Amino acid sequence: MTIISNDIGRAVEILNNEDVVAIPTETVYGLAGNIYSDKAIRKIFEVKQRPLFNPLIVHLHSVEQLDEIVSEFPIKAQLLADAFWPGSLTLILKKKSNIPDVITAGKDTVAVRIPNHPVTLKLLKELSFPLAAPSANPFNRISPTNSLHVESYFKNSIKMVLEGGECKNGLESTIIGFENNEPVLYRLGAIALEEIENVVGKINVKNKKEKAPDAPGMLAKHYAPKTKTYLVNDIKKFIKGNGDKTIGVVSFTEDMNASNIEHVEILSKSGDLKEAASKLYSALHTLDDLNLDMIVAQRFPDVGLGKSINDRLERATK
Ligand code: TXA
Ligand code: MG
Repeated sequence: MTIISNDIGRAVEILNNEDVVAIPTETVYGLAGNIYSDKAIRKIFEVKQRPLFNPLIVHLHSVEQLDEIVSEFPIKAQLLADAFWPGSLTLILKKKSNIPDVITAGKDTVAVRIPNHPVTLKLLKELSFPLAAPSANPFNRISPTNSLHVESYFKNSIKMVLEGGECKNGLESTIIGFENNEPVLYRLGAIALEEIENVVGKINVKNKKEKAPDAPGMLAKHYAPKTKTYLVNDIKKFIKGNGDKTIGVVSFTEDMNASNIEHVEILSKSGDLKEAASKLYSALHTLDDLNLDMIVAQRFPDVGLGKSINDRLERATK
């Protein structure tokens, strides 16, 4: 049985005991464990059925803690940290040798971020170690944006979900690595590419859809509902062409009606991409639970968070 509770003391106890706890962040819920506990980290991989070649993000409560984790902090990384931490930015930096290989999948770099969620910041301050936390979903499934999503995935395998409400941003963090001290974007996410470029200038984008050696987690298929999912430019044409199917729709702003549409999830009536991003995964969870023949999403405008939303929807269609 999994308890859903806001008892930080209980979470501290479980984590001190080398076990795992699901934690809220402003992006998605994470499945957290002590970075120095082999037992806790192996349990994270086992519960998620995540392959060991896929490294984890280390979560900190302050930039001072970085000293313990990384050996280099390039100037552009500092600028980004100043601009976005605590927040939805993950930096890939050269690691110190005390960081266990199981966290970094044997790489000489480590992913770090300071999440912007009051409950988890408080938790991190009460612990004597940072937390490794991948998104709290089974490998290749939709990331959880509330505690009930986590509970329904891991009912029998984890002791506790620390309650933190709905995730405000609802998409995973944007991941930036460094090549020759220059920033490279490895994963589009909750901070728009344009916002990053406002701080450090134009950057190289390697948000690859195939298995990318630089960011081993960026597999083409990811974030996927069980229901066959499509991302299209002309949603009305698609619905007409599939008259014999039961369909769930992910729409940006408008409602839709047709005899084969069972349910429409409108992500932002006012056309606000930030609001749409925050609701995307919850909409996919809802539609996926309806056991329909297909889910169809309308392609979002290819700017700002629209790029990040399209990226996740493309991966959901694989
Ligand atoms: O918003 C988020 O980032 C959430 C919350 C819980 O913080 N976490 C999350 O973790 O999305 P996860 O494990 O689902 O995705 C982490 C990504 C993976 O694609 C992984 O390959 C990449 O970060 N990554 C981790 N360490 C890396 C490294 N040293 N080099 C390159 N990529 C790395
Ligand atoms: Mg994930």
